[in-house]
Amino acid sequence: MADMRTILETKKRGGKLAPEEIACFVHGVYDGSVPDYQAAAFLMAVRLMGMDEAETAALTLEMARTGAQADLSAIPGVKVDKHSTGGVGDLTTLVAVPLCAACGVPVAKMSGRALGHTGGTLDKLAAIPGLRTDLSMEAFVRQVQRIGCAVIGQTGDLAPVDKALYALRDVTATVDSIPLIASSILSKKIAAGCDAILLDVKTGSGALMPTLEDSRRLAEEMVRIGKAAGKRVCALITDMDEPLGRLIGNALEVKEALGILRGEETGRARDLCLEVAARMVALGTGEAVAAARLRTKAALEEGRGFAKLCEMVAAQGGDVRALEETDRLPGARLRVPLRAQEDGCVSALAARDLGLASNALGAGRARKEDPIDYGVGIECCVRVGDRVRRGQTLLLLHANDEARVGPALELAAGAVRLAPEAPQPRPLLFGAVE
Ligand code: URA
Repeated sequence: MADMRTILETKKRGGKLAPEEIACFVHGVYDGSVPDYQAAAFLMAVRLMGMDEAETAALTLEMARTGAQADLSAIPGVKVDKHSTGGVGDLTTLVAVPLCAACGVPVAKMSGRALGHTGGTLDKLAAIPGLRTDLSMEAFVRQVQRIGCAVIGQTGDLAPVDKALYALRDVTATVDSIPLIASSILSKKIAAGCDAILLDVKTGSGALMPTLEDSRRLAEEMVRIGKAAGKRVCALITDMDEPLGRLIGNALEVKEALGILRGEETGRARDLCLEVAARMVALGTGEAVAAARLRTKAALEEGRGFAKLCEMVAAQGGDVRALEETDRLPGARLRVPLRAQEDGCVSALAARDLGLASNALGAGRARKEDPIDYGVGIECCVRVGDRVRRGQTLLLLHANDEARVGPALELAAGAVRLAPEAPQPRPLLFGAVE
């Protein structure tokens, strides 16, 4: 029988842990026999010394099978899920899920709340009046059977060890570790019972893994583990140096997503939504990505994605009128501009700082029990590469509380950089790992 002191000693020296030792750690966290200080020491040892592929796979699979697993077998077909490693202005789920379902591929998705500077789909959905994300597992399965998609919060008993470890990682500077991120994300996705997973691995200054090299390693590791668990998996590596969309904040991102589904918005957010949806369709059907792109684009242009989102919102008790008349969504009383101090070219719109600025306005939480102001956030009036004139509005802060504007404005001002020339444009999509 493995014991925690030996396990910690081994990992501290960079040794390799056996599957039984990893199982001992996971079960100890689950049943409480491993106290937080030993779990934290384990996490730091892994953060500093790493884990090889076999250890990471063993950790992931043990975490996935400890606690409950969702049974989606009553839903016919290949059930597809998606996960983003976290972004700012990342409204992809709100568009890609209904588009994929409109193409006949069922999506049973469990989403999370905002984390750090990144937004969370669950909070964005909660901006739609009346919409429920706390469906029972039976209601979740029935909804996907009936209309082809549902997005709910993760039930407490799926991958409970990840929940415990994530809370510790958040306060012990051990979030940015490839084996810990890979096992965290995939244990949840495997326990959630889908057959295929599209991973959106962000790269750039606003991502958990800022360098392309680390983002690629994370993508490759997750694809390998997912396949070892018998899933169809594809990871896209996508840009998160600047916010994905034009709008940051919960109701604001819902509005932008609706604009995309209605065909009124173009740009990077729409392009990524279409690519993610196409990849999800390709995973679900086995068809070529090029064919799947044509189908998802047609679903968008014919309004079938919008109709499917309305169906999903209605099924989950939400007020569909708020999707038609977006003034019914939460809003903000104040508009505070950030203006250019000089002529120049926008050389950076730092996603992390803009996420923090949006949180400072009340769009995110400082503590997990804090309430959210769904109406506030930031409107980006320019993109990286745009030429601007002195006095031009760069950002518009949507605020409800005057007292929050000063700190948010300071963060936002630090996020925008001007230079004499436009920087080299960054691609939206850096690659796909299959
Ligand atoms: N998202 C997760 O679910 N887990 C991580 O470790 C990082 C991002």
